[in-house]
Amino acid sequence: MKDLQFARHRRLRSTDNMRALVRETHLHKEDLIYPIFIVEGENIKNEVPSMPGVYHLSLDLLNEEMAEVTDLGIKSVIVFGVPKEKDEVGTQAYHDHGIVQKAISQIKESFPELVVIADTCLCQYTNHGHCGIVEEGQVLNDPTLDLLARTAVSQARAGADIIAPSNMMDGFVAAIRHGLDENGFKHIPVMSYAVKYSSAFYGPFRDAAHSSPQFGDRKTYQMDPANRQEALREAESDIMEGADFLIVKPALSYLDIIRDVKNNFNVPVVAYNVSGEYSMIKAAAQNGWINEKEIVMEMLVSMKRAGVDLIITYFSKDVARWLNEN
Ligand code: PBG
Repeated sequence: MKDLQFARHRRLRSTDNMRALVRETHLHKEDLIYPIFIVEGENIKNEVPSMPGVYHLSLDLLNEEMAEVTDLGIKSVIVFGVPKEKDEVGTQAYHDHGIVQKAISQIKESFPELVVIADTCLCQYTNHGHCGIVEEGQVLNDPTLDLLARTAVSQARAGADIIAPSNMMDGFVAAIRHGLDENGFKHIPVMSYAVKYSSAFYGPFRDAAHSSPQFGDRKTYQMDPANRQEALREAESDIMEGADFLIVKPALSYLDIIRDVKNNFNVPVVAYNVSGEYSMIKAAAQNGWINEKEIVMEMLVSMKRAGVDLIITYFSKDVARWLNEN
């Protein structure tokens, strides 16, 4: 044993404080974006069955929820509307008094400091559940762009601080940027779901948002999980079209993609820690099979280590609470 030469890595792991000194990655409350689902009606707070701890909320209960969120130190929410009425062309998405527009203006009125992000898509609002206009079973690209721009402008008019288009039509950032600029919203940034895979991890969200496609799937517009080069092409075109942030979605199975995007672009990168990732942990935790807090913190720190600046997560309130305890 006497002459062995080797490195003593354990010197830097000896105590809590020593480990804290050499820790390379930190998760902050400022990193968290909390998703909320707003429904029409009154006095509604219904838990989404496949997402324990996530609720459908009506407007009259929204302020209470936002007070909790801001008290915890969370700086931003992303708002999803779940409308009662759906039609072929998703009219409620760009209606000036649609559920999401009402929710945004109510939040901004009562919590002006909170950064409100509007998810800009049509799938919750169309009766076929696709993210664009459908003709003869095809999701049409260019005709959908006008509706997306209208949706974004109506959300900005309601007071949204950031527009987050998620529908994966080609040119959606260009169309939205143009629409915002033409309507007096040059100052409103676009957080593009630039790299969005066609993923089974969205299953529980589609229960929450009532947005499952009624026929076919989203594979002609969302990305193939097997592709890596294509992620950089998607990110590049969105940057050229004017995106201010890039979202990678889902997160856990796509940490390599997050790192690629981070290494190649100099804008804030956002991970969407999606519904399926949430529900798997909740289900295992409810069975007593895992330690929820430790798993969640490890998962979110991994995303930051992979290169993200911000994380959209249903765990935001829990994480803020845990961070406040320390
Ligand atoms: C809308 C949209 C989806 C999600 C966010 N925005 C669903 C989809 O593309 O089917 C998924 C979020 C999640 O799973 O948590 N297009």
